Formats: sequence, C-alpha cells, structure tokens
Amino acid sequence: MTDKSSIAAGTLGGASVRTQQSAARGLWSSRWVFFLAATGSAVGLGNIWKFPYITGENGGGAFVLVYLGCILLIGIPLLMAEVMIGRRGRQNPDGAVARLAREAGANTKWRVAGWLGGLTGFLILSFYLVVAGWALSYIPTTLSGTFSGVGGDASGELFNGLLASPMRLIVCGTLVLAATMLIVGFGVRGGLERSLRFLMPGLFVLLLGLVGYAAVTGEFLQALAFLFVPDFSALTATSVLIALGHAFFTLSLGAGAMMVYGSYLPEGTSIAKTSVLVALADTVVALLAGMAIFPLVFGNGLEPGAGPGLIFVTLPIAFGQMPLGQVVGGLFFVMLVIAALTSAISLSEPSIAWMTERFGLSRLKAVLVSGGLLWVLSLGSVFSFNLWADYQLFGKTFFDSLDYLTTNWLMPLGGLMTVLFTGWVMKEQTVRDAIGIRHGGLFRAWWLLLRFGTPLAIVLVFLNLSGLI
Ligand code: PHE
Repeated sequence: MTDKSSIAAGTLGGASVRTQQSAARGLWSSRWVFFLAATGSAVGLGNIWKFPYITGENGGGAFVLVYLGCILLIGIPLLMAEVMIGRRGRQNPDGAVARLAREAGANTKWRVAGWLGGLTGFLILSFYLVVAGWALSYIPTTLSGTFSGVGGDASGELFNGLLASPMRLIVCGTLVLAATMLIVGFGVRGGLERSLRFLMPGLFVLLLGLVGYAAVTGEFLQALAFLFVPDFSALTATSVLIALGHAFFTLSLGAGAMMVYGSYLPEGTSIAKTSVLVALADTVVALLAGMAIFPLVFGNGLEPGAGPGLIFVTLPIAFGQMPLGQVVGGLFFVMLVIAALTSAISLSEPSIAWMTERFGLSRLKAVLVSGGLLWVLSLGSVFSFNLWADYQLFGKTFFDSLDYLTTNWLMPLGGLMTVLFTGWVMKEQTVRDAIGIRHGGLFRAWWLLLRFGTPLAIVLVFLNLSGLI
C-alpha cells in the first residue's frame, strides 16, 4: 500500500482524488464495525432527547405505536435500500446514485436523491450540534452537584438559564463541532470503533439502571400506560406525520448518512440482517429512554408535553436525589455527548466525502470549509433561544423551522426519491444482486414494500402536510 492509500484507508473515504479506485477509499474492517458505526449513527439525540419529548407532546401510546409501525414498514426497507446503494455505488451519495443511474441507463439527474441527502444532513448537523452542546454543558453542571435536591421548578430554571446565554451555547456547540471535525478529519474508523465499543454497552447499561431507578422511585405504571396503552383519541393527523418524520430522523434516513456508511461496507455482509439489527438496537434505546424519563415526569408533577427541554429538566431531578447521583448523572451526559458525536460524524461524512470526491478537495480543506459553514449556521439555532427568540417564521423560531423543514420535508423527500430510484429505475436483477437477500420470498416482500408501500406512505405524508388530505 502506498502512503496515500494507507492514509485513505485509515481515515475512511480519505481518497482525495476523484479518480482514485474505490478500494483506496477504505472499507470498514469488519461487518461488526459497520454495525457499530451504523448503530452509532442511528442512536443519538433522536432517541434520548427527541423521542421522549415528541412522545410527550403527541399524547403517548398511540403515537409510539404509529412510530413503531413506521420503523418496521418504511424505515427498515429504506435503510436496506440506502446501504445497498452506497455499497454498490462506492462513492459519496451524490456520486453513488449517479453511478447507479448510469448503470441502469437512466438519467443521472437522479443524483439529486444523493446530494439532497447530503445537504439535509448538513442542515441537521447545524442544530444537532447545538443540542449536543446542551448535553456537554450539563456534564460539569451535574458533576459539581448543582442539581442536588432540586425540584421541577429549579431544574427548569437552570435549563432556561442555559438557553438564555448565547455565550455558553456557542462555546459548547463549538466544542462539539470541533470534536466532530477532528474525528472526521483524522480517522473516522479508528475514532468510531474505539468509542463505540464501550459506548453502546455502557449507554445501554446506564439506561437500564435509570429505568430501574425510575421504576422504584417514580410513577412507573403510569409511565408504562402512557407509553404503551394507545389512546387513539390523542392522535392527530399531524402526530402521524411527526411519527413518520421521526422514523427517518432516528434511523438516519434521507440524510446521506447510511448511504455513505454503506459505501465503506465490504462485500458479502448481509444488508438485511444488519439493517434489522440496527433498527432494533435503535428502537430499544428510544423505548428505554422513554421508560426512564416518564416515571420521573409523572412522579415530579411535570408536564409530558413540556417540549425540547424535557430530559434536561427531568433527569437532573433524579440525579440530584439518587445516591452517587453526581457521578451517575455526569456519566450519563458524557455518554449522551458521545452518542451525539457518533451521529454527528455520520451527518458530516456525506458532504465531506462529496467535496473530496467530486471536487478533489483535500480532506482537511473539506473539513475546514464545512466546519466554518456549520459554525455560522449554528448561530441561527443558538440565537433562536435568546436574542432572536421573537423573530419567528410561520410561528416557529429558526431552530424549530430548521428541524421542521429537515425532518418533515427534506428527509421524507430524499427517502421518497431513493425508494423510487431503487424500485423503479434500477433493474430488478441489479437490485437483487446488490442487496444479497437469498430467500426469494423475503426479497419479494421487501421489493413490493419498497416499490409500493413505502412511496405511498411518504406521499400521504406530503399531502397531509400541505393540507390536501
Ligand atoms: N439518527 C440520529 C439520532 O437519532 C440523527 C441523525 C439523523 C444522524 C440523520 C444521521 C443522519 O440522533
């Protein structure tokens, strides 16, 4: 191996020249590492921060049921398609779709399905890193014992104090951004592999512990009923759309992330099996987060629909009361930051791989350019909570608008184009070879779902969002 290619292999996708052979882009060292990376991408703030608060806002059980249905019927088939496109295309999402379009003799304009994903991921990252910054700032706050003995009101005030300070938000967001860019710039694979090996089991054990604590001290049964007994009268049409959007968000779909990770996947790995396992791990973490948080919400007389601050207000109350709470809480927020980082990395990789492969930028330059742009864009989200809180677009702050636009429109739109491309543009035989599902019936089921069920469901979302149905 030449120096250049060994660096490339070490940094994943570090090939700086467009013409370099795909082998030099580097591959995951094993199927297990791909599984870790994809799970690391999927599991993040979406599971622990977003899932509980949108479940709370949308009335609980019925929303959870719809969300689970979306994961099963739309999320998993699309996840498989994205990974397949990445692996067969062996490029950044834009290049991969273009290559497969050419292979199918179709118009390369389909590449929009790829670059739109990269753009969406980029936009998401700009607000994602701000929320990850909240978690980061909670590490010292928790460790120093600030939360000891606080109740709901005091905890809420501490959180509002954080949001009111642009300086603290900028510093924390910048640190998260810098860490993400450092890892992406100097070795996605090594960094990911190391952090994920400990993170995933660690996060899981800690969450289980928190569920146990919440079960003993909080209103566990009320929480279980809230999460798992569907009350369909609480379900609005909008809730259904939010559940679908969140299925995209939590599985990292429609954002280029799974495509680009698929592009580093060695041949011979079962895409179907891995996708199911990733979705399963992701769902379990989200449900555990819900089971840890809602007993505390009800036990402390808080509102389930309190909004984005939900976990930052409720969990500290528990950390302030339990034995060794400072340490447990500190550890929890450390893990949350790492979980967010492993997602942030996958949000930034598509656009960085795109800049290096399409425009021949060095990886360092690509990291600096996207880091700079992201930093500026993130200020909009930071100021949404303080200086610009009163400037609203359609009744939403900049932060909320960006979240709404990306999660409810851009991700499903990218997903729709991806399923249409896979199901109707690519040749069935090519897809059959590329996906590698050996069981005929299973392939058929996936293929039918992908061609009809998934696009139809997404179109319904759009019609509903635009008020047409
Ligand atoms: N799935 C991540 C989470 O749940 C967020 C994400 C979205 C990551 C899109 C990559 C792409 O936190």
